Order: sequence, then structure tokens, then C-alpha cells
Amino acid sequence: MESPFRADILKGKVALLTGGGSGIGYEISYQLGKHGASVAIMGRRKHVLDSAVSTLRSHGIPAIGIEGDVRNRDDAVRAVESTIQQFGRLDILVNAAAGNFLVPAEDLSPNAFRTVIDIDSVGTFTMCHAALKYLKKGGQGKDSSSGGMIINISATLHYTASWYQIHVSAAKAAVDSITRSLALEWGTDYDIRVNGIAPGPIADTTGASKLAPEEILSKVKEAPLFKFGEKWDIAMAALYLASDAGKYVNGTTLVVDGGEWLSKPRN
Ligand code: HXC
Repeated sequence: MESPFRADILKGKVALLTGGGSGIGYEISYQLGKHGASVAIMGRRKHVLDSAVSTLRSHGIPAIGIEGDVRNRDDAVRAVESTIQQFGRLDILVNAAAGNFLVPAEDLSPNAFRTVIDIDSVGTFTMCHAALKYLKKGGQGKDSSSGGMIINISATLHYTASWYQIHVSAAKAAVDSITRSLALEWGTDYDIRVNGIAPGPIADTTGASKLAPEEILSKVKEAPLFKFGEKWDIAMAALYLASDAGKYVNGTTLVVDGGEWLSKPRN
């Protein structure tokens, strides 16, 4: 689907995306790139990164891949430094790396719980922390009205309670809290905007295929818009937040789910 945004809204900007090689993270990388940004994508799987980078480049998008795990502080710092080395600045950090699996709380080991918290929540904070020094400087080009910015990919699981997702629900609740705290502190001190996006059920993603597709489908049937979203929908929300269109938006987590989380089965 064609973008409703002008192709140069992110011209000259540099973005670093964790989990940027596949799924929602890749689509955001692609759309940021199509709208003028240079993109660095970080992930654990080299072959996924290589393939994503070559596709991005084939679309004329300046792109690099950085192998690393957001749970590792050294990897986080290296990803940021490599981005600066390659592109000279950092304006946009997107935290899209996540871990997930369905398991009843009774059968979930504390280590498995911690693993998802480590990836989603601690990983998000680690990346934000590592990027801060450059985000302070980012976005201060003469054409920009705002400082650097961060987008944290969240979920809607924790707005209510979700079966077999205690670990992810807790992790994403922490992500939303991190979004608000950093929006307050870094918005005040450094003019950095920090926002989140909470996708609903999105077709053609690891999340959708891992998380009992038939259960998701039955929920979607009761949702106001009655359909799965597309990765494109999430990328458009990211463009809105990352561009000057979102220059007064700070500390919010934008729900992009067609109203799915509001819905309950009809009696
Ligand atoms: C129960 C499991 C499990 C499973 C792993 N564990 N998979 N427990 N059911 N299916 C347990 C292990 O037994 C171990 O605990 C602990 O978790 C760590 O497992 P490892 O395999 O060592 O971890 P690791 O190799 O680091 O893998 C991380 C992962 C993996 C999260 C487990 O699935 C992963 O990296 N996934 C990334 C891709 C992904 O899931 N993307 C989808 C995101 S979708 P013990 O006690 O045995 O040591 C998403 C959407 C959310 O986030 C919202 C949806 C609506």
C-alpha cells in the first residue's frame, strides 16, 4: 500500500532498530528508509540481517546490519557506535526486539519469565541508555524542530490479562512505564521524545504465528474493525511519531489494533 506521507519527511535522519531484520521491525526499517532515513538494524541472526540489509539496499536505502543481543550491554553500545561510525549521527531509536512463547504460568520457569523480561524490558532500557549520548545531539539539524526520539514497541496484552502470557504482559507493562519515565526525564532535559506503539494482531508476523492463531482469529472476529492489521499499519504509526508530525507527542503509547483490545465476545 502506498504511503500517505511525503517521501522526504525523514531526509537526513539516521535510525537504529533492534529486531529490525524481520517482522514488524523490518517493515518499520523499510518505511523509515523509504521516507529518507538511513537505517542500522540490529539482531541476533546474521542470515536474517544480511538478507534484510540487501533488500533495503535494493530499494536504495542506506542500510547496515549489526549482529547483537539487546541483553548484552556491550552489544548495545557497539550497535550504537557502529551506527555513528557509518552514518555520523543518531536521531531515531526503535526498540522492536522481543521474545515470546505461550505457556501457562504454572509451567513457566522463573528463568523463562526472566528471559522475556531481559529481552523486552531490560533490553529496551539498555538500548535507550546506550543511545542517549547521541540522541541528545540527534535531530538538531537546522531543518528539524525536535530532538532525537525513541519508539518502543509494546503490546496490549497487559491492559487486561492474557492467557499464557504472564511473562510478556509483565515485560510490556514495564516497557510502557519506561516509555513514560524517559519521556518525562529526557523530554525535559534533552528535548528527546519517547513514545510507544502497541500493535494488535498483525498478519504475517512471528507473534501471530506463535500465539495460537485460532485464538487470535476468534478475538479478531469480535473486534470493531473485524480484521488483522498489517505491518504497514504499525510502520505508518512509527512514521507519524518519528516525523515532525508527532513533534508534540511525548510519553504516549499509541494503540494500533483496530480497537481489538476493547472488544469482548457478544452475549
Ligand atoms: C516454555 C520456554 C519456551 C516455551 C523457552 N522457554 N521457550 N518455556 N515454553 N515455548 C524457556 C527455556 O526452557 C528456558 O528456561 C528459558 O525460557 C530461556 O530459553 P532459551 O531457549 O535459553 O532462551 P533464548 O535462546 O534466549 O530464546 C529466547 C526466547 C525465544 C524468547 C525463548 O523464543 C526467542 O528469542 N524468540 C525471539 C523471537 C520472538 O519470539 N519473536 C516474537 C515476538 S512476538 P529454563 O528454566 O528451562 O532455563 C511478541 C508479540 C507480543 O513479542 C504481543 C503479542 C500480541
